[in-house]
Amino acid sequence: ANANAEPLKFPIPANVHAETVVSVKHHTDRLFSFRITRPQSFRFRSGEFVMIGLPNAEKPVFRAYSIASPAWDDELEFYSIKVPDGPLTSELQKIVPGDTVLLRQKSTGTLVVDALKPGKRLWMIATGTGIAPFASLIRDPDTYEKFEEIVLTNTCRDIAELQYGDALFQSVSQDPLIGELTQGRLSYYASTTRESSARNGRITDLIASGKLFADLGVASFDPAVDRVMICGSLDMIRDVKDLVEKAGLVEGSNAAPADFVVERAFVG
Ligand code: A2P
Repeated sequence: ANANAEPLKFPIPANVHAETVVSVKHHTDRLFSFRITRPQSFRFRSGEFVMIGLPNAEKPVFRAYSIASPAWDDELEFYSIKVPDGPLTSELQKIVPGDTVLLRQKSTGTLVVDALKPGKRLWMIATGTGIAPFASLIRDPDTYEKFEEIVLTNTCRDIAELQYGDALFQSVSQDPLIGELTQGRLSYYASTTRESSARNGRITDLIASGKLFADLGVASFDPAVDRVMICGSLDMIRDVKDLVEKAGLVEGSNAAPADFVVERAFVG
């Protein structure tokens, strides 16, 4: 509880955690991230999502958010788009430290290492806020236990939108615990589509042209070697899925682990 916070006008619904905002960062006028306290009883697997809301109505609006922090962290981090008329994000973008955020009790999702068969190289293909579940997974030692090599791709409209992913990669590489695991094993591959930068183009085009593999000096997708996680818009998922299926990879799930898994990035 925060002494400066306004008293809540509505009761906290049953079976929902009321957590406190610890910090908020506005990255661009379209993107922000925030950290909240984590209830002791709240367990999740890195890469999963959870429903979150605000205590601003009798029946609050909840939206599915990927947890961007790893399972070992004692806080929970989220990365969000700001939609001016979004039912949740129009209000959520105004939170400040000390405010209350509601969290449902159960997390779920398919972007988990358990939904993939063992493999050598794990690809994490992200566009926009689709990087959130991977921010969790690349900070989890379990990911490095299961895969020898990890490639995180991050494609956004412009350079400013890449910043969250850029900073994430830097901080993971320099982390005293995880940093050692990542040495020579974690690659970061960023591109922009609407502003000229060091690397340009949609990830689908970079895959189809072979540039992604040439740049990294690896062979293209091979079901014997590669596992892929995909997170972005519905169109992006469809198009990347087509490409990995063409390479012979099979979609997996928690019930039937296979070669690739997909999940839609948060939309509003
Ligand atoms: P583009 O600028 O060409 O639309 P958004 O911020 O709208 O979610 O987009 C994030 C990134 O995803 C942008 O770089 C965008 O490229 C890209 N993108 C959008 N649709 C697709 C798609 N079908 N396949 C691959 N990338 C896509």
